Amino acid sequence: MNIDLKQIPSPCYVLEERLLRKNLELINKVQKEAGVKIILALKGFAMFSTFKIVKQYLETCTASSLNEAKLCNQEMKGKAHLYSPVYLENEFDELLKLSSHITFNSLSQWDKFKNKVLANTQKISCGLRINPEYSEVKTDLYNPCIAGSRLGIRAENLGNKLTDGIEGLHFHSLCENNSYTLENTLKSVEEKFSHLLKQAKWLNMGGGHLMTHKEYNVQHLIDLLKDFKNKYPNLEIILEPGGAVGWQTGYLVSTVQDIIESKGIKVAMLDVSFSAHMPDCLEMPYKPMIHGATDAIEGKPTYRMGGVTCLAGDHLGDYSFEKPLKPGDKIVFDDMIHYTMVKTTTFNGVTHPSIGIWTEGNKFKLVRKFGYEDYRNRLS
Ligand SMILES: Cc1ncc(COP(=O)(O)O)c(C=O)c1O
Repeated sequence: MNIDLKQIPSPCYVLEERLLRKNLELINKVQKEAGVKIILALKGFAMFSTFKIVKQYLETCTASSLNEAKLCNQEMKGKAHLYSPVYLENEFDELLKLSSHITFNSLSQWDKFKNKVLANTQKISCGLRINPEYSEVKTDLYNPCIAGSRLGIRAENLGNKLTDGIEGLHFHSLCENNSYTLENTLKSVEEKFSHLLKQAKWLNMGGGHLMTHKEYNVQHLIDLLKDFKNKYPNLEIILEPGGAVGWQTGYLVSTVQDIIESKGIKVAMLDVSFSAHMPDCLEMPYKPMIHGATDAIEGKPTYRMGGVTCLAGDHLGDYSFEKPLKPGDKIVFDDMIHYTMVKTTTFNGVTHPSIGIWTEGNKFKLVRKFGYEDYRNRLS
């Protein structure tokens, strides 16, 4: 961590520009050396105040809604690669103006909208999402290949010939996985869809490629993609990671407000909420690292972290510290940039943490502060 906490208001999400650039450099190396196109999945990282840097490496974004498609066009200055499980009739004309690629989740969605797309003069390239029926994701909430999955078309429903008007195929079945999982997935994709791969112009391999993780074998990914391209020279390969872009690029800075004790458990009450500001901690669930703390160690000052909402389960723990905590102490949650800001709510009317950047020039830049209007404007 390379930031001066004294300069940062609480609560605040802080991204370190140098860490974002480090991730982007690595992602760019993959796209250059493997000869593939990598685009940003906005659902995982949409902090558009950093897009000037992102755009130096990635051309555009994948969008999963009209709002994301607009953000892509306005802030990333690129047409969106669009995929949504369903498209809404009242939004479709606008989506056509904002997209270069549209992937359909089912043949019935394609049938519903194909005349509009084919009549469009902007030459949008259309694809179908396929279900490779192979995933190594352990949590069902994040596994698009569970039995009865509503995401993607199974091979048995596609036949031998690529549907007229369709140019691409798309699969997304990884989540924070490595290149060996991709290798296994590609085997399944080939087993089920190789006849269609030979007819297509592009294959989008979705997200979930955590190539910026320190243990990820980047060279293996590059070699795997090159081999695949050699086998299918007709295909443009697209990857659309979100998490890997924002992976370990920043923090959520919070402050202890109170210490209470309940049945021998000490709780540090914070000015942030797990439910509202770090929902993955409760959904996944996962326990983020806190700077200067460890998992609970007997004999050390140990605390549960208490959120600011009155949801009974808005807490996480336990953590041990070197010294007892007191009100005013800063608690810095690590790796709180990807999937956090895009998933937050103002549940309980809690104020959204500010958003800031620790710049490459070693200065803190406050990008946004939130208040009553932001809470009110979501309601009526
Ligand atoms: C279709 C699709 N593409 C890309 C992504 C981004 O995945 P990740 O952020 O894990 O790289 C997701 C995430 O859910 C997705 O559903």
